[in-house]
Amino acid sequence: MKILTVCLGNICRSPLAEGLLQRAIERRGLDWTVDSAGTGAYHVGDPPDPRSIAVAKAHDLDIHQQRARRIRTTDLATYDLILAMDRSNYRNILSLTDNPEERAKVQLFLPYANPNASITEVPDPYWDDEGFEQVYQLLEHAADQLLDRLLQNPS
Ligand code: 4NP
Repeated sequence: MKILTVCLGNICRSPLAEGLLQRAIERRGLDWTVDSAGTGAYHVGDPPDPRSIAVAKAHDLDIHQQRARRIRTTDLATYDLILAMDRSNYRNILSLTDNPEERAKVQLFLPYANPNASITEVPDPYWDDEGFEQVYQLLEHAADQLLDRLLQNPS
């Protein structure tokens, strides 16, 4: 299973999602891969936002070696599951392909992980220093729920 997490800049939300999914995958002893990307190119080549690195570190998760990249049309063929952090990202990813098989791989992360989720988008914390802990908590929970779901419903 190859999973791609996607946000706008690939410096705040999707790097945390990548790190948390990686950790959850390792804890379950799975041979799955995860990467992240952004729909925008503003931060290509940059490490994660220092506030994302810090909130991860506070929870014993190291994401400082990640580097931002922009999503490529080939990612739609390469990955099995492409997880958008919010509806804007979701629409922008879908705009990259008309192929029904590829489009079916694109999902909104929180409701895909938990269909009963009351919060359906990961809020963009870029302009809000206080938002990073909430983003971390949302993503940590969703990462575990996603693996529960995928392992119960192998496809
Ligand atoms: P991200 O957050 O999409 O979670 O990485 C953002 C990062 C950068 C910008 C916006 C959101 N920006 O406008 O540069």
